[in-house]
Amino acid sequence: MSSNHTLMGVTFIGCGAAAPETIVLNDELAQVVDTSDEWISSRTGIRQRHIGHDRESLAGLATQAAQQALEMAGVAAEDVDLIILATSSAEDLFGSACRIQAQLGATKAVAFDLTAACSGFVFGVVTAAQFLRSGVYRNVLVIGADLLSRWVDWQDRNTCVLFGDGAGAVLMQGTINPDRLLGFEISSDGSQNCCLNLSFKPELRELIPGVVLTQGKYQYITMNGKEVYRFAINRVPDAIDKVIHQAHLTSADIDWLILHQANQRIMDAVALRLQIPPEKVVSNVAKYGNTSAASIPIALTEAVRAGKIQTGDTIATSGFGAGLSWGAAIFKWGN
Ligand code: COA
Repeated sequence: MSSNHTLMGVTFIGCGAAAPETIVLNDELAQVVDTSDEWISSRTGIRQRHIGHDRESLAGLATQAAQQALEMAGVAAEDVDLIILATSSAEDLFGSACRIQAQLGATKAVAFDLTAACSGFVFGVVTAAQFLRSGVYRNVLVIGADLLSRWVDWQDRNTCVLFGDGAGAVLMQGTINPDRLLGFEISSDGSQNCCLNLSFKPELRELIPGVVLTQGKYQYITMNGKEVYRFAINRVPDAIDKVIHQAHLTSADIDWLILHQANQRIMDAVALRLQIPPEKVVSNVAKYGNTSAASIPIALTEAVRAGKIQTGDTIATSGFGAGLSWGAAIFKWGN
């Protein structure tokens, strides 16, 4: 840990992504539940998703993504100060971030999990920025990783067609140069909590006479799709508008819009409201489905690797989902 507490700027200098090898096409899902490629692709834009198998772990995928981010940034694992793992599907309720720290060999890093569902990556970036701007830390890995296939009811066609597995990561570094994080906004509305849940169902057990405790199991994902859809298309454009304003920009200054990859229709509606043309919207939902906290860094990584996103490009991003929660940020890519 650095003892230098000079106020710093934030840069985004590395990214990486990983997904399980196994791909399940919409037509294959139609053998599991009463659905069709036509229904899924026309309502969501999703054509396939990656599904983790029994030998793949959340920590393993997250580590792969993080290693790529470190390599691109030219930062050694031993120089990472903090690892934030945004996930809702940790393999250990005590947290999975420390396992990633060990697998990476990031020996001096402190590591913790952050749970904010599909907003988790944006919340993680904003959290990381506080440590970097204060000068407390210099190198922070923000990882978004989820294996929601483990928590989907594969008999429920309302939800099982939407989700997929994956991991993505960015390396954020403190700098004395101008701050590349131009604005952010993060929000929660617990009054709508019941719209999207992966809940614990308690079972009562009498330990000794008069002392009843609750043990139980987590239940599959439940969702009110229409409410979540309405929430997203209202809240997300407002949040992005606010950060554009904070950054003293207009929507014409945005080079790329990278939204949480939940549904192509949501992305189209948000872009339309913001008057951002389709060619500036980064989308890979067709290939991955909704990978929750992983979706934004996977989309970012693919666009950087494809040479679409270049150093200095201005990116508007927004994550949204369970909580309900949502967040937006504007940043410039690269040093
Ligand atoms: N295949 C075929 N039919 C399906 C289906 C599927 N996979 N899933 C639901 N249906 C049926 C329903 O049973 C319902 O039938 P009914 O009218 O006979 O009751 C009908 O399709 C609902 O269709 P529609 O009203 O057109 O659905 P929709 O336009 O609201 O689309 C979602 C459904 C889930 C795609 C949409 O609401 C959505 O994307 N919501 C946001 C979800 C989300 O992104 N969640 C994660 C956020 S992080």
